[in-house]
Amino acid sequence: MKRIAILTSGGDAPGMNAAIRAATLIGRAAGAEVLGIERGYRGLLEDAFVPLGAADVAGILREGGTILGSARCKEFHERSVRDRARAILAAREVDGLVVIGGNGSLTGALHLADPAEIGGGRPLAIVGVPASIDNDLGLTGLSIGVDTAMNTIVEACDKIADTATAHDRTFIVEVMGRDCGYLAMTSAIAVGADLALFPEAGKPESQIVDQIVETVLAIRAKQRRARKVIVIKAEGVNIAVDKLKTLVDARLRERAPNAEPSAIETRVTVLGHVVRGGRPSAFDRLLGSRLANVAVRALAAGQSHKMASWMPPVELPGHIATRSSADPYCWLVDLTAVLAETQNLLTGKSALARWRAGAFEQIEDALLL
Ligand code: F6P
Repeated sequence: MKRIAILTSGGDAPGMNAAIRAATLIGRAAGAEVLGIERGYRGLLEDAFVPLGAADVAGILREGGTILGSARCKEFHERSVRDRARAILAAREVDGLVVIGGNGSLTGALHLADPAEIGGGRPLAIVGVPASIDNDLGLTGLSIGVDTAMNTIVEACDKIADTATAHDRTFIVEVMGRDCGYLAMTSAIAVGADLALFPEAGKPESQIVDQIVETVLAIRAKQRRARKVIVIKAEGVNIAVDKLKTLVDARLRERAPNAEPSAIETRVTVLGHVVRGGRPSAFDRLLGSRLANVAVRALAAGQSHKMASWMPPVELPGHIATRSSADPYCWLVDLTAVLAETQNLLTGKSALARWRAGAFEQIEDALLL
C-alpha cells in the first residue's frame, strides 16, 4: 500500500477527528503516504486532496466535527459520477481509501470499489469506519459519535429537568435520529425520562398522544413528589413536535378540566444539531482511534470491502466477519453484509431492531415511576 486517502462523509460525528488522526499516523507508520480528501465525495469530485502528516493531525483528537469537512453528495448514486471519482483517485495513484461515515457514505464506498464498475481500471481497496450519531449501522455494536451524542442529550435533559421541576412542567424533548430510535431509547434510560417515543414502535399518532397524556395524568395523580415529566421523542417519529404539543395540551385540558393550566401544559425543546456537535467523549476518541487502526491495518494487509466494527451485537459466521488481529474488541465485517443489515435495522426487519423495541416496551411501565 503506497498511498492511502481518507475522507469523512455524511453527517459529522464527534470522534471523526480521532479516526482521521489514527488513520494518518498508522498509515504513515506502515510506510504509506497519506492524503486527506476535503468535504467527502463532493471534495473528491473536485480533486480536493491535502497531504496529511503528524503535524496536520496534532491536537485534533479533542475537536468535534471533522477537520476534513463533510458533505452529503446525492450525485454519487450515479455511475458516471463514480467513474469521474475513480479517474481522480487513479490520477492521484491512491491504492486504498478509508471512508469514515454512515450508511450513505459506506454505500458510496462499496460502489466506488465495485470490481464490476472498475473493470480494467486501476484497482482500489476500501475499508469503512462506522461514524453516525444515530447508531443505525448494522453489525457494529457502536458507531463513532453515539457516546458523545448521548452525553450531550443527558446533559441537556438534566438541565431541562431542573426547570421542569421548578415549574411542575411536562417537557417533550426531541433528539436526533432520522430513522432509528436508539438515541431516544438509551438516553431515556440514562436520563430517567418518563417516556420515550421512537419510530421502531410503529405507533400511530393517536396512540402516541394517548401515551403522553396517560403518562402525565398518572404522574400528576401521584401523591408523592413527582413534579416533572420528561418525554424523549426521536426525530424519526413521524409527527412534528409542535403539532404533538397542541394535540397533547388539548387532550389534557379535556381530561383534567379543573387542573391549573401550568400543571398540565407542555413545553417543547428540540435539541437538533446540538446533539451532533461538541468535543468527543473519551470513549469516542478511543473508539475512533481503535476502529481506524483496525481499518488501516486491514488495508495494509491487502483487505478490502470491509468495515471495521466494534463488538458486533450478533454472532457472525467466518465468511462474513473475522476478529481483528490488531484489536480483540474489533472485527472486520463484509461491507455488503453490513449494508444489508443496516437496511433491515432502518426498516424494522432486523432481529436487533425488534429486540430493541421489544426490550424497551418491557421496561416502559417501570419507567413510569
Ligand atoms: O447524521 C445523522 C443525522 O444527524 C440524523 O439524525 C439527522 O436527521 C440528520 O443527520 C440531519 O442531517 P443534516 O445535518 O444534513 O440536516
